[in-house]
Amino acid sequence: MQPEASNASAQGRLIGRRILVTGAASGIGRAIAELFLAAGASVAMLDRQWSVTPHQEHPRALVLEADITDGESVDAAVFRAVGMFGGLDGLVNAAGISNTDWADQVTLDDWRKVLDVNLTGTFIVCRACLPHLRAAPAATIVNLSSGQGLQPFSRRSAYAASKAGVIAFSKSIAMEWAPEIRVNTICPGAVDTPMVRAGYSEDSLRDQVAPRYALGRIGAPIEIAQAALYLTSAEASFVTGIVLAVDGGRSYH
Ligand SMILES: NC(=O)c1ccc[n+]([C@@H]2O[C@H](COP(=O)([O-])OP(=O)(O)OC[C@H]3O[C@@H](n4cnc5c(N)ncnc54)[C@H](O)[C@@H]3O)[C@@H](O)[C@H]2O)c1
Repeated sequence: MQPEASNASAQGRLIGRRILVTGAASGIGRAIAELFLAAGASVAMLDRQWSVTPHQEHPRALVLEADITDGESVDAAVFRAVGMFGGLDGLVNAAGISNTDWADQVTLDDWRKVLDVNLTGTFIVCRACLPHLRAAPAATIVNLSSGQGLQPFSRRSAYAASKAGVIAFSKSIAMEWAPEIRVNTICPGAVDTPMVRAGYSEDSLRDQVAPRYALGRIGAPIEIAQAALYLTSAEASFVTGIVLAVDGGRSYH
């Protein structure tokens, strides 16, 4: 059994850093925001909807409501974050939506929606943050793709296309925005979040999904957050343009 990841080892690794995290109300984005707060960062937590606002009282957290497909709402949120923190040193794009329709059945509206949120939304937020990141001393971007962006399954055409797009986009801006900004991509395997719970029963996660993984289980959000922490921290100062699979061994064989 592997040791369980926790927030305890994060202490001090992001002190003084000001990071915007999208998709921060749920799942992986929320785990990243919590870990980054534990690591000493100031965190602007952006999501399109907040049913609960658990971190509103944390002195280094700022809760923002914005839709990443809407340039004006993203600009306003970034403006608020910069106003509050005095700048931005990092960005994590974790907002995303899923789609499991067959390619011959997905509606054009749904296809466009998945591409709009997962790919164009990532672009919109990166571009809105760019001038602020360029002004920071050692800025970072981490974009969440997926194992589906590397090795797609059937019934994932729109989602896989959007996530492959995130990989290509991230590599391209890693070249364009270097050396000021390091840009890296994480490709998680299946992780226990509301997104995955919406698509699979407990039985199918155990009997069908987990056996695809060398480690024999799906991931926990904190395990993806630890990878985002590494890529955002100074420990990864010579790492840019990479695509890091954090998937318990689904994609290596
Ligand atoms: N959970 C997994 O197994 C898995 C695997 C690979 C990749 N990913 C990726 O990781 C990221 C996080 O996934 P998750 O499982 O935590 O999902 P989740 O559904 O738990 O959380 C996604 C969050 O993104 C927000 N969001 C969606 N559309 C938005 C928009 N237009 N504007 C602002 N916020 C928006 C949602 O409100 C939600 O809070 C996604 O990009 C997902 O594609 C997840």
